[in-house]
Amino acid sequence: MSEKLYLYPVWVRLWHALNAILIILLIISGISMQYSDPSNPFIRFDIAVSMHNISGMILTANYVAFLLGNMITPNGRFYKFNYKGLLGRIVKQFMYYTIGIFKHEKPPFPITKDNKFNPLQKFTYVIAMYILVPIVIVTGWALLYPELVLTKLFGGSGLKINDFVHVIIGFFVSFFMFIHIYFCTIGATFVSNFKSMINGYHESH
Ligand code: HEM
Repeated sequence: MSEKLYLYPVWVRLWHALNAILIILLIISGISMQYSDPSNPFIRFDIAVSMHNISGMILTANYVAFLLGNMITPNGRFYKFNYKGLLGRIVKQFMYYTIGIFKHEKPPFPITKDNKFNPLQKFTYVIAMYILVPIVIVTGWALLYPELVLTKLFGGSGLKINDFVHVIIGFFVSFFMFIHIYFCTIGATFVSNFKSMINGYHESH
């Protein structure tokens, strides 16, 4: 019998849906600007630029909502590490994903109402949400208004380094998203985690 736990409050689901849509728009417009032939672009260059800038601005507001939500609601506790034994727990979860799962072993860190994420999941969510996404947001705003800091303080090289960091970390966020979606398929059923993000209830084995 599968058991259902209410783990995803409405605000998390709304934040997540908007975040996912915006990141997909940012990836599509970003790739179009980066790689397309300007005379024959995937998305017309000026449209891709507007799409990227507007999505980035809404993403920033949505990100601030996420930070505030995690500060003022109990959801923030799922993003805090207990550093004692952290590496060991991450390795244990990794071994489960690479070996144990294929032997039909039980997950080493079952999901409970106080333990929404397994250690590897928590680690990647914290890296994505508290390191990668903020770096992309800050470097994105810096590219939008380079005259404010970049060119004043660092000249042309500041602009190049900032651009490089924006593109590389943006790539890592895209990479995170693909891996994240793959791991979301490892639930009670192939689709149960996706359903959780719609109805708020996590379904355990
Ligand atoms: C189409 C794209 C995406 C899909 C289908 C998707 C799917 C899901 C699903 C099914 C969950 C619930 C299961 C779980 O907690 O692991 C989830 C949670 C989460 N996702 Fe995504 N995701 C997408 C994009 C993203 C992106 C782009 C980010 C961040 C850059 C992200 C960050 C998160 C975070 C932080 C959680 C946990 C939220 C919480 O409960 O506090 N997701 N996602």
